[in-house]
Amino acid sequence: MLILIDERGKKYLLNLEQDFQNDLGIIKKEDFQDCVPGDTLETHMGKHIKVVKADVNDLIELMQRRCSILLPKDIGIVISYTGLGCGDRVVDAGTGAAAISLHFANVVGNEGKVYSYEIREDFAQIAQSNIDQFKLKNVEIKNKDIKEGIDEEDVDLVFLDLPRPYELLELVYESLKTGGWLAVYAPYIEQVQILHRISKKVGFSEINTIECILREIEIKVKGTRPKTRMVGHTGYLSFARKL
Ligand SMILES: C[S@@+](CC[C@H](N)C(=O)[O-])C[C@H]1O[C@@H](n2cnc3c(N)ncnc32)[C@H](O)[C@@H]1O
Repeated sequence: MLILIDERGKKYLLNLEQDFQNDLGIIKKEDFQDCVPGDTLETHMGKHIKVVKADVNDLIELMQRRCSILLPKDIGIVISYTGLGCGDRVVDAGTGAAAISLHFANVVGNEGKVYSYEIREDFAQIAQSNIDQFKLKNVEIKNKDIKEGIDEEDVDLVFLDLPRPYELLELVYESLKTGGWLAVYAPYIEQVQILHRISKKVGFSEINTIECILREIEIKVKGTRPKTRMVGHTGYLSFARKL
């Protein structure tokens, strides 16, 4: 999927059906029908617009959403700690706007599949329209309460980002393949304590919780140091494996 990036770094989905227009000018649709990544287009005001092949983070930035989404720092850790790979099958709940679903889809590829459960019909519709717009074939959005049951079996990863995730652990254990992972994102430590206790009772192994604190570095002529402002806390990430 191609996107346009203007001189200020602002991104737009490329729509071949209509002229491109923003405050930096207009480009007639005839002028970008055959464009390829790397091309530079020019508006009638002489401003330059770059044509780029979108990566998953571009798509997340451009997608519709009505709820908060997971940050790349946490998504990256879920993918690396669980060793998710090409061809894997993932269950994910709740979908929200489908940020982590898009990352999972990107990693598992077309040989794998992501089944994402969302209880709210309006959120499920937005997520579905994002998936359709990006023409992804390996994500299935399910407008369903995951606590009523997980339809999939022999799953490689179940990822939970919803209230009281510990209520689901028996269902998750049933749906995972041996060697498969549970990963949970939870903002409060009390949730983590309950999660550990119930994970052990259900039979999970390799139970572990981490928090990722990310500091951006500011580079100035005067000196280089971490930025004074940062995201203090997002959520705890807990992992458990079915062995
Ligand atoms: C914080 S959002 C998820 C964000 C998402 N994981 C992401 O990648 O950014 C939590 C979502 O869980 C949904 N939800 C809550 N309980 C649920 C349940 N029992 N089954 C399915 N979805 C649920 C909410 O409607 C909400 O959209």
